[in-house]
Amino acid sequence: MTIDYPIARDARCPYEPPAAYLDTLLTKPITKARLWNGDQAWLIVGHKESNEVLADDRFSARPDVPGYPHVSPALAGYRKSGLETFNNKDNPQHSLERRMFTKWFTVRRINSLHEKIADLVDRVLDGLIAEGDTADLYAQLALPIPSQVIFAMLNAPYEDHLVVEEATNTILSWRSTTEESAAASAVLLQFCESLVKQRKEHPLDDDVISEAIEEHVNTGQCTLEQLTQGIRLLFLAGHETTANAISMSILVLLDHPHLAAQLRESEDPAFVERAVKELLRFVTIAQAGRCRVALQDVTIGGVTIKAGEGVIVSSESANRDPSVFEHASEVDFDREHLQESASFGYGTHRCVGERLAVVELQVVLPAVLRKLPDLRLTVERKDLPYKTDHTVFGVYELPVAWG
Ligand code: HEM
Repeated sequence: MTIDYPIARDARCPYEPPAAYLDTLLTKPITKARLWNGDQAWLIVGHKESNEVLADDRFSARPDVPGYPHVSPALAGYRKSGLETFNNKDNPQHSLERRMFTKWFTVRRINSLHEKIADLVDRVLDGLIAEGDTADLYAQLALPIPSQVIFAMLNAPYEDHLVVEEATNTILSWRSTTEESAAASAVLLQFCESLVKQRKEHPLDDDVISEAIEEHVNTGQCTLEQLTQGIRLLFLAGHETTANAISMSILVLLDHPHLAAQLRESEDPAFVERAVKELLRFVTIAQAGRCRVALQDVTIGGVTIKAGEGVIVSSESANRDPSVFEHASEVDFDREHLQESASFGYGTHRCVGERLAVVELQVVLPAVLRKLPDLRLTVERKDLPYKTDHTVFGVYELPVAWG
């Protein structure tokens, strides 16, 4: 059987991966998929098999290797625009470039941002409350918080946030054409080039770009272009993802008032962290799979994937695998095996910003529940505009009222 990929989630059960993936999960962990341009690839839905692929360096993340699966015209445009970011490279080059940034995302360093993020969240929420008792929580809270955090981390002028947000949205939307996406990629790159140029001329203390220039570019390990592309990746991956995770988590909490009450009342940071990780597993916003291409023949789940064949790992399906997660389609803040969650990927390309996203959610969700009592949707549930046409699942708007 060959299934089309990607399939939009059903708006009637927006937290669930498409039924076709789940049906496959119950019968075979690996199946054939047909893409928008007629290309075929292997779709991996099983948890164990997903990890096997992502941990195996016989699978390449490079889009220029023939057979690499492009899951949308826009992502094809982004990846063919000649702008190579380290998420689309293999080791050793991948880790050489990734290392420019990892020291800024360690658990210790990100935990130290907790208070600053909490101040920002309080300011945003107090501003909403001062303005009235309704809001679009996506545009007025979920998006500006991660966006301001990544701009602050990279010491970039927040007044330019629309340039970055609009370009990111074009690149990630399945509705964008290859040309539109390539043009948006160029705009984002120009923004990053100008930022890197400024830092080269006027380095700052305690600054991601200035230190990368000093420690990685000036020492000859990486080029200024590779640094610029890495910064572009951080902007691209660093706000829209967390924004959708925030709005979808709020929606889940609105749907499960007893869980919202637990989170609102908890004084236990370990419980809040577990709840956040479970929400991230449950909603799995990274709905377009992790794409790879086989460099050699490899057997996964009893199927031989031939050299040159594309592979798509569906993390949203892996997060529903009953062999790892019992009653996987329920939210359970006491769930075991959360360390197995597929939400941030696995192996060498596992998300750089994972801790940052988790801390942002740990701060935002309890604050929303405490500061906006009686939070409720102001539209019918069925009328919410879901991002069923986007690399990252979420809602385009989250209209709510409180008080
Ligand atoms: C809830 C929020 C987020 C989710 C669900 C998420 C998910 C993911 C996933 C699934 C991957 C693996 C891609 C692959 O294997 O091909 C990834 C990679 C990546 N993410 Fe995130 N991410 C989030 C937030 C962030 C943030 C806040 C940042 C940066 C500030 C970030 C930066 C990156 C980077 C740079 C990579 C590429 C890593 C590599 O290839 O070595 N992400 N993310």
